[in-house]
Amino acid sequence: MSRTVLILNGPNLNLLGTRETEVYGTTTLDDIVASIRSHAGDVTIEEYQSNVEGELINRLHAGRGTVDGVVFNPGAFTHYSYALRDAISASELPVVETHLSNVHAREEFRHRTVLAGVCVGVVAGFGAMSYQLAFDALMNHLDG
Ligand code: DQA
Repeated sequence: MSRTVLILNGPNLNLLGTRETEVYGTTTLDDIVASIRSHAGDVTIEEYQSNVEGELINRLHAGRGTVDGVVFNPGAFTHYSYALRDAISASELPVVETHLSNVHAREEFRHRTVLAGVCVGVVAGFGAMSYQLAFDALMNHLDG
């Protein structure tokens, strides 16, 4: 059975590669998605980025029944968006919360995630590799 995974990215992640490179590295979002695709075998990779909370919610809704799971970097929404939390729950999809940086080693406001409790797991701190680790973990979760 062939699978589809959505790589979903929130605000400011369109600037990856040039944004605060000392924190987030020089790899672009396109590079990250291309790398996952090249390792994904027969898994179809869909990709969406938005700086707008409601668009991310809409994309999660659209994923219901059309994708098998989501690798999701919600950016700063991680720390306060109850609307995204509800959208993840409503989607009934396995979602892996993913961060380039180790949010627990940074400013206090980044230590709290309001989304992790409705995700199957969290990967943080491994730079661009966080996405690959999250994808592998999601595959393992789906294989159950
Ligand atoms: C981030 C961490 C968030 O705190 C921050 O707001 C981001 C990126 C990360 O990938 O490390 O935009 O999600």
